[in-house]
Amino acid sequence: MKRTKVFAHRGFSGIAPENTMAAFQLAVEAGADGIELDVHMTGDGEIVVLHDEQLERTTTGTGWVKDRTWAELEAVECGLWYVPPVKGERLPTLAQVLELAWETDICLNIELKNNWVAYPGMEERVVALVERYHMAERVILSSFNHNSLKQLSLLKPSWSLAALYDCKLVEPWQYARLIGVNSLHPHYRSVDEEMVQTCQRHGIGIRPYTVDEERDIKRLLAAGVEAIITNHPDRVQKLARHG
Ligand code: G3P
Ligand code: CA
Repeated sequence: MKRTKVFAHRGFSGIAPENTMAAFQLAVEAGADGIELDVHMTGDGEIVVLHDEQLERTTTGTGWVKDRTWAELEAVECGLWYVPPVKGERLPTLAQVLELAWETDICLNIELKNNWVAYPGMEERVVALVERYHMAERVILSSFNHNSLKQLSLLKPSWSLAALYDCKLVEPWQYARLIGVNSLHPHYRSVDEEMVQTCQRHGIGIRPYTVDEERDIKRLLAAGVEAIITNHPDRVQKLARHG
């Protein structure tokens, strides 16, 4: 059985403000196999790294990302909400994170946050950035918007694409085939060993999110998932090594 990989959710967000360069750097230093991050698009087409559609929860900005230009956002702080506050963390662009990944051997799971807000042209812009950094081999594109994934599968049939979902699918591998993705990122509660094995037999990898508790990590390691997406990569690494 292959080793289960560890993906740091929004970077090493267990110990640093989510989706910041600090959290991504810590994930690299912790030896995570991958970084999961969320992206949105500004009104003038910049792909920026943030979880929410709106700026208030984690930044000093206000309003919707789609209604702001990059010039309006480049100075917002992203770590002051954190306890204790972290100063000087600016809103990362996808280009900055690609550059960090390119300099290391870490993978990126870029989640397109286009399920609540429409970002026309976002798929093409993300693809162009990944290509600019020659990172196609080390990137997984995921989304809860399965129409967007279908579009990506037509644009880039050979890329790693993953459908995010938080329900129980009857035949997950068949659904993956139908929408043109080669892996699934389900909520961890819907994952069991039989489902993992059946998907694997059909060439569909399973990377559940967001798995932080020891009991759940152990269960999913035993089920043989391809990767675990976690806020605490150190916990998963320790349990994968020593049980
Ligand atoms: O990619 C898995 C997970 O990040 C999806 O949920 O809300 O944390 O982006 P969320
Ligand atoms: Ca995410």
